[in-house]
Formats: sequence, structure tokens, C-alpha cells
Amino acid sequence: AAVPVLTIDGPGGAGKGTISSLVAERLGWHLLDSGALYRLTAQAALKHSVAVDDEAGLARLAEQLDVAFPVEEGQPRTLLEGEDVGQQIRTEQAGERASQVAALPAVRQALLQRQRDFCQAPGLVADGRDMGTVVFPDAPLKIFLTASADERARRRYLQLQEAGVDASLSSLLKEIQARDARDTQRSVAPLKPADDAITLDTTRLSIPEVVDRLTELLAQRG
Ligand code: C5P
Repeated sequence: AAVPVLTIDGPGGAGKGTISSLVAERLGWHLLDSGALYRLTAQAALKHSVAVDDEAGLARLAEQLDVAFPVEEGQPRTLLEGEDVGQQIRTEQAGERASQVAALPAVRQALLQRQRDFCQAPGLVADGRDMGTVVFPDAPLKIFLTASADERARRRYLQLQEAGVDASLSSLLKEIQARDARDTQRSVAPLKPADDAITLDTTRLSIPEVVDRLTELLAQRG
């Protein structure tokens, strides 16, 4: 039988990362954080001085990306060429660079098979922008997770505060709006719900409420 895939797409800050990892944990399924692959490609470009407009060079980097996501003492880590870059790739600046390299068709093509390789028994929760539209078009359950831009900025702000990172709410809102614009307006794999996706607005929902709702939907489909 085909391995079941739950795709969770949506704009940055809608809670996809948190929700996806909680749902994957509850189901005992694998997790694909596809945004991390774009962030890591951008990080590798920085490290190897490949320009953000060098499409062929970036695609080659993406193709050869040496990454690992080990869990050590219960802590998930992100390794690029053996070096822990978990902190570096989570800044807004890193997100902005990721969104620039993600707009290049050759980079997306280079990461396609790597993403599909995450689909392994007993199942996969895939978090991103084009999981339901491009990477896993046959997924039995596709979710489009959104929240208002103000709410997403507020959540990012709290997350950063918790991590001890200085941030301003108004500049976060501007960054979120700029990244939304780039992600929805690009010509290749733009951010949009798949035709058969269920849209869930989480502006007024708590994290456990969203996790419960998704588990219910999966049970109905399975
Ligand atoms: O989800 P995250 O904020 O980590 O993603 C960083 C950037 O990577 C996004 O702004 C988007 O441009 C890009 N991305 C993408 N397709 C995905 C996941 C992320 O284009 N499936």
C-alpha cells in the first residue's frame, strides 16, 4: 500500500512547524521540514560564497547538500556538512535568503527527489509551501494552514522573545508581508492551497486545538 502523506502548507508563522512536529509525533510518522532544506541551501551558499542570483551554482549546491537531522538527547539538531547550524538558519534574515533561493526553478528541481525520499512507512507529515501542489500531489489529506499577518507576526515575536532574540513587532510584520508577497507571486510553485486542500485559519485556535482537528480529519480520511 502507498505510504500515507499529510501535507501542511501555508505562509510563514502560521504554526506549521510546531503543528507538523506535534502531529508527526502523535502518529509516529516521519517529518519533512522542507523550509529547512531551502534555508540550508541558502546557508550553504553563504558559506561557499555562491551569489544569490547564480542559479546553476545554487542548484548544484542544493543537489549536493550534505545535511543531517539527528536527534541527540531528545533535541533535534540540524547539521550542514557536519556543523550545527540550527540557530543560524532560524533568523528572519536566513528566512529571507531562503525565500530568494526558493524562487529559482533549478533549486526547486534539485530538491524535489530529496523531499520525496522522506516518504517512508508508516507515514509522513510534510510541512512547506508546495507539499500538496507539487511535491506530494497524491497525498490523501492536504491542509492549508493560515492566520492573519498580524497574528503571525505576534507569534514570531513571542517565539523570538522566548529564544532570547531581540525583535520588533512592526519590523517582523513588514518582513512577513514581504516574504508572503515573494512566496505567493513567484512563477514556480507559488504559495497557494491545492485544489483539494482543506483551509484551516488558526488565528483564533490554540496549538492543541489545531492538532486535535488535524488528527480528527486524518481519522475520517483513513
Ligand atoms: O517554512 P520556512 O519559513 O522555513 O521556509 C523558508 C522559505 O523557504 C519560505 O519563505 C519559502 O520561500 C521557502 N519554501 C518554499 N517551499 C517550501 C518550503 C519553504 O519555497 N516547500
